[in-house]
Amino acid sequence: MVWKKIAENGEIPIGKGKEFKIAEKHVAVFNQDGYHALDGICVHQDGSLGPGKLEGDIVECPLHSWHYNIKTGQLQDYLKGVKLQTYKVEKRSDGIYIDI
Ligand code: FES
Repeated sequence: MVWKKIAENGEIPIGKGKEFKIAEKHVAVFNQDGYHALDGICVHQDGSLGPGKLEGDIVECPLHSWHYNIKTGQLQDYLKGVKLQTYKVEKRSDGIYIDI
């Protein structure tokens, strides 16, 4: 794993997420109660989670409304036990970094 800068400070508004492509992976990064990152592609039909609506720690896939916990990656409905990979995120003085 390597720390990579993905965004400038302030680029991801509080309560929102953004999708990034890093090292061939699609990653969704959320600014909610600190920064959290997880694989950004829904396991259902590849919906993009970065722009999904956030309520507390739960993001809703924009395509068909499946829900994931942004801190654990856990799918909240349907397929029990499905979990997206999560990544460590750090806010540093010069931007937002992810360990990927
Ligand atoms: S693609 Fe995410 S719920 Fe269908």
